[in-house]
Amino acid sequence: MKVGVTYNIKKQGSGVRGQGSEKALPSDFFAEWDDEDTIEAVRVALAKRHDVVLIEADEVAYEKLKASKPDIVFNIAEGLWGQSRESQIPAMLDMLRIPYTGSGPLALAICLDKARAKELLSYHGISTPLFSVISDLGFRISDLKSIIANRKSLPFPLIVKPLYEGSSKGIRNNSVVNGEDELKERVAWVIAEYRQPALIEEFLEGREFTVAMIGNSEDLKMLPVVEINYSSLPAGVNPIYSYEAKWIWDTPDNPLEIFQCPADIGSKLKKDIGDICSNAFRILDIKDWCRIDIRLDSKERPYILELNPLPGILPDPKSNSCFPKAARAAGMDYHKLINAVLDAACKRYGIKT
Ligand SMILES: Nc1ncnc2c1ncn2[C@@H]1O[C@H](COP(=O)(O)OP(=O)(O)O)[C@@H](O)[C@H]1O
Ligand SMILES: [Mg+2]
Repeated sequence: MKVGVTYNIKKQGSGVRGQGSEKALPSDFFAEWDDEDTIEAVRVALAKRHDVVLIEADEVAYEKLKASKPDIVFNIAEGLWGQSRESQIPAMLDMLRIPYTGSGPLALAICLDKARAKELLSYHGISTPLFSVISDLGFRISDLKSIIANRKSLPFPLIVKPLYEGSSKGIRNNSVVNGEDELKERVAWVIAEYRQPALIEEFLEGREFTVAMIGNSEDLKMLPVVEINYSSLPAGVNPIYSYEAKWIWDTPDNPLEIFQCPADIGSKLKKDIGDICSNAFRILDIKDWCRIDIRLDSKERPYILELNPLPGILPDPKSNSCFPKAARAAGMDYHKLINAVLDAACKRYGIKT
């Protein structure tokens, strides 16, 4: 089979940010894009069974896809600009009638807008932290009403995040706020730095897990659950997986023991986590794979923080990437993981491999 790989490659250093409007990009702008090693590892994994063609998801991606006509595309492209950027390549592929791995444009756009995803989850009775979206710097505290649960107001502590980012972009140690002044400062920072609304959520202080799911419908599987172990973070910092925790304090040369996989959880909690994750996967119409972030409330009940239908897949075990880590705990090396995702997509489309 001819398998295309669509990707966006991370630009090295801030010096490449260019001129004009790009000058004002936030310092973590490229954090979600893939590095060369990841793209190469995906290529090698697929090349064991297929002819692989790499297609950078740039402004001429459509022409390249149209010309090379792969039988299927392994899509890891995060997209170029805008609130629905992850949908760009899947929408082009739908138009060209080329099958691809992972979710479609609608599911990707909904999951990137965390509030939209939470609205849908709430509608279907799936637990997610109470929240409010603020796009106006002149907001008053009395405006902070949750749009769910009887418009109950949001109690401190709260966490403030950009509405449509990932890879811990815009989530800093000081994103957890305990009073009005801190809240206003963080909301203003998110709106100014990321040029998008701020999502304010009740802060859940319980254990945190991230759950890798692979497959579809009756073949959907939960890989061993990963727990985020906050005791490995520097003393005194907030118990969150912040930008600092992901990209600064944890490096391949000095890895934090931040993830435990499999998590040490009893069968009841494991079942509750499995149920909430598979329900969310189905409700949001996710395909083939997804990593779902979960946090517990004080009564040990799981809540969905967010869904990552284009999960990070750094190949080097030292890079502490959760999806490959969960796969390794299930006995799947990187090659098997990538091919399992491709096979899930092929099965869904009825393509024989
Ligand atoms: N409502 C919340 N309660 C407690 N912690 C949270 C909450 N929302 C986010 N966090 C913390 O911030 C981290 C990043 O938030 P998340 O929404 O997953 O953003 P990203 O898309 O960048 O991964 C989470 O892994 C968790 O540690
Ligand atoms: Mg997350």
